[in-house]
Amino acid sequence: MSDASVIERLRAAGCVFAEEEAEMLLAAASGAAELDLMVERRAAGLPLEHIVGWAEFDGLRIEVDGGVFVPRRRTEFLVGHAVELARPGAVCVDLCCGSGAAGAVLRERVRGAEVHASDIEPAAVRCARRNVEPRGGRVYEGDLFAPLPAELRGRVEILVANVPYVPTEEIGLLPPEARDHEPHVTLDGGPDGLDVLRRVAAEAPEWLAPGGHLLVETSERQAELAAETVRKVSGDLLVPEVITSEEWWATVVVATRR
Ligand SMILES: C[S@@+](CC[C@H](N)C(=O)[O-])C[C@H]1O[C@@H](n2cnc3c(N)ncnc32)[C@H](O)[C@@H]1O
Repeated sequence: MSDASVIERLRAAGCVFAEEEAEMLLAAASGAAELDLMVERRAAGLPLEHIVGWAEFDGLRIEVDGGVFVPRRRTEFLVGHAVELARPGAVCVDLCCGSGAAGAVLRERVRGAEVHASDIEPAAVRCARRNVEPRGGRVYEGDLFAPLPAELRGRVEILVANVPYVPTEEIGLLPPEARDHEPHVTLDGGPDGLDVLRRVAAEAPEWLAPGGHLLVETSERQAELAAETVRKVSGDLLVPEVITSEEWWATVVVATRR
């Protein structure tokens, strides 16, 4: 199959960035038969990252298996802010880590950071282990804070938690790549999108060191309610601030432990 015919097939399937995607598929395929299969899968709507097996995140190549949430470029805003807040050697936790993209960046960008990451989905944990552990972090499987080592209580300086935040009824409105190929546990934030955040913010004060930060991504529409929820469910122990980036089209609640 020629480069032009790959582009043509992708374009016909509605891929907006057909040229760039074709380039990635051509580089990833080991031969004509594999390329044909990859183009077919992409035309059928599979996320490009699941087909090639990786996503670019903050300049890193993050491995992403099928069924694992694809790290979004806008989350670089949250992670970049976490990196700015972290002092060398900081104890960092990437909760709901998915592929472990945030944990991998923290290990790469914060000198001597002690990074722990966890997720409830076995597929995500397997993937995060390949992205975080070779860089010197640790990855655990389980519900929110439950699998973390107990000795981290009260010592966490940076707690990154890109939790699911799509309101259940809006999942059907997401692009098919997300709706059909990412497990709903990675997206579904309950009726108002804040269910997982409530649980994280209620428990976070026990794990954060005084002055430590919880960083969570949210939508612009949910931001004020998310910040107020964090303050309330933490019993006023977390002081939230909303920060936004027009460049990344991203909104993040940064809450600081009193
Ligand atoms: C929106 S994805 C974000 C993944 C990753 N942090 C990123 O930014 O690419 C949310 C992740 O939360 C995980 N998750 C959902 N509920 C969870 C729970 N109760 N405990 C731990 N992880 C959970 C999902 O498996 C999914 O990987």
